[in-house]
Amino acid sequence: MAAYEVLSGKRVVLGVSASIAAYKAVSVASALTQAGALVDVVMTPEAQELVRPLSFQAITHRPVLSEMFHLLAETDIGHVTLGHRADVVVVAPATAHTLAKLSLGLADDLITTTVLATRAPLVLAPAMDAGMYDNSAVRENVARLRERGAVVVEPEWGRMASGLVGQGRLAEAPTIVETLRVVLGRGGDLADWRVVVTAGGTREAIDPVRFVSNHSSGKMGYAVAVAARDRGAEVVLISAPSALAPPLGVESRPVVNAEEMHRAVAKAIDAADLLVMAAAVADYRPRQAADRKIKKHGGELLLRLVPTTDILADTAGMANDCLIRVGFAAETDELIEHARGKLERKRLDLIVANDISELESGFGSDTNRVVLLDRTGGRRDLPLLPKPEVAHHILDEAIRIQAERIG
Ligand code: CTP
Repeated sequence: MAAYEVLSGKRVVLGVSASIAAYKAVSVASALTQAGALVDVVMTPEAQELVRPLSFQAITHRPVLSEMFHLLAETDIGHVTLGHRADVVVVAPATAHTLAKLSLGLADDLITTTVLATRAPLVLAPAMDAGMYDNSAVRENVARLRERGAVVVEPEWGRMASGLVGQGRLAEAPTIVETLRVVLGRGGDLADWRVVVTAGGTREAIDPVRFVSNHSSGKMGYAVAVAARDRGAEVVLISAPSALAPPLGVESRPVVNAEEMHRAVAKAIDAADLLVMAAAVADYRPRQAADRKIKKHGGELLLRLVPTTDILADTAGMANDCLIRVGFAAETDELIEHARGKLERKRLDLIVANDISELESGFGSDTNRVVLLDRTGGRRDLPLLPKPEVAHHILDEAIRIQAERIG
């Protein structure tokens, strides 16, 4: 389990109501348990016709609850105590019927009483047959629950158990789990921080078909964005093209080339506390992108390149006084010397130096071995770590730098 898992040790009440998608809740319970959460599953009696409670119990290692007053120890895990103890309550799947009861504040089963009793955030993942989710009664119930603060994980479009096609399929387990991370992350140690992260490798057009770029996968920058989100920050992710999906709960601003990234960064850092430039920005671009596809001919083709603006260096002048600026130095030799040089030249607060000639730290890998260097001469050599953990160490350093500034 990752050292910074936001779900670790959290009490999650997972309400399962009687949709045919109830079997997917087993994957939700499994992912939450694997992330270290204590998952109390509460099922309606009808849901138990669709999935056996034992499936959940075997995964969560905790009793599954259903009856309001026939609990193992009513004095301890009573029909309201569960809600009082919860860090978050999620109903997945939430049927049209359960949503209607929650919207009205009815309390005739253990899911509805738990939701009424809790002060924890409520996450709802509706699932119902095609057409039902469009029904104005359902829409109104969902809207009312949203107004009261519930977070709704929208059902997906697709083919239903009935054979009909429409919106109503329960969101996939990873989406539900990710939403819980976003919700539980609020109030973390980066609450009130505005964090701007860049990621991916910029593409500089040669003609409408071709471009100059690099091997950056975007994984490190995306990991920083997700880590900051999980600690409560408001995050803007400015990403050059990447195969990675935009993370939930993060404001994604896609860009293509260095110039677009420059403009997006300049705009985003105005009120930001932290800028993490993890993007591999092209240092050069073709002087002139051809309007039409360049056709081949026998001889050599000369590509004239001109330098791009150094975005990070440029922000030294335009940044607000509070902004902490973090850069990356991907090097193949003289790691520390080159990184220190960049730290000085770009007047950074912190630089993350990594030797990309190492197999596990190269572009596209899931791990990274980095050295963190700060402007006061401080140096931290981290071991080989998964990129999400490296991301949390970078954020720890940013918090330390801010604390030192404030004094
Ligand atoms: N960077 C930037 N704008 C550029 C080029 C780089 O903001 N046009 C940022 C990168 O996002 C990274 C840091 O600067 O955080 C270091 O990038 P790198 O290209 O390694 O540094 P350079 O100073 O360009 O040095 P060199 O290419 O000679 O290694």
